[in-house]
Amino acid sequence: MHDSAAVIADRIDVSFGHVNVISQLSIRVARGSTVGLVGESGSGKSTLGKAIVGMNRVSAGTLDVVGHDMRRLSRRERHTLSRTVQYIPQDPYSSLSPRRTIRQTLAEAIDPRAGRLSADAEALAVATLTSVGLGGDVLAKYPHEFSGGQRQRIAIARALLPGPELIIADEITSALDVSVQAEIIELLKRLRGERPLTMVFISHSLAVVEQLCEEIIVMQRGAIVEHGPITEVFHAPSSLYTRQLLASVPGSPGFDLDGGAQQ
Ligand SMILES: Nc1ncnc2c1ncn2[C@@H]1O[C@H](COP(=O)(O)OP(=O)(O)OP(=O)(O)O)[C@@H](O)[C@H]1O
Ligand SMILES: [Mg+2]
Repeated sequence: MHDSAAVIADRIDVSFGHVNVISQLSIRVARGSTVGLVGESGSGKSTLGKAIVGMNRVSAGTLDVVGHDMRRLSRRERHTLSRTVQYIPQDPYSSLSPRRTIRQTLAEAIDPRAGRLSADAEALAVATLTSVGLGGDVLAKYPHEFSGGQRQRIAIARALLPGPELIIADEITSALDVSVQAEIIELLKRLRGERPLTMVFISHSLAVVEQLCEEIIVMQRGAIVEHGPITEVFHAPSSLYTRQLLASVPGSPGFDLDGGAQQ
């Protein structure tokens, strides 16, 4: 029924203890789209992203992710979703175990029960590493042997290996230098062209979101204040909050709307 949507949230709540961090939130993310999710620190971006991948419990409303009702998952669906929906965190150290070689980490991503890479799986791992700009020589190494940008490439390869339909990338370029950030953005653009992928790209940077995404969702205090195509939102933001965000981005149509500085 919901074939065209990868994520449909209808008035969902997510709470920690007695605090409702997300309240009555509704969104729809079309399959194959790349959506930027922005908003100030603490607005609930990661909380929403983790709810979408099943890491946070939804306490009210309905949440459908790639055709699965997240509030009523069977064991089998949970297993399927552990492959088809991937979350990449900001700090790859939290997804790449420091005591495991890249080979062990990737083997687990391909088959959690196998423990080692079969010849076929190794070929797949090397092909995926190549597609993110690395080579098979990284397999025997440990995460500490890589730069931040290389670790994010490995984290991206790890997320791609099970053949996901949906990736939630949570500030994956935020800790990187601007030039490395640009390389990762180019990589994501290329990967998106190579396979059918829906991507929710959580970021503090409107400039990065503008380069990568077709749509933008703006969150404030656990609610969505804006959702639309990038071009529309950038030219005619409907909320005051989005206008304020845009006013701080040099080069954006709304830059310094109030200050009147020359562009
Ligand atoms: N596991 C948790 N337990 C309790 N409170 C939490 C938990 N996770 C998030 N929160 C709270 O939920 C609110 C939203 O946090 P969240 O991490 O989703 O924000 P964010 O938009 O991702 O912020 P940032 O841009 O800083 O990453 C914050 O007030 C945070 O303290
Ligand atoms: Mg966050």
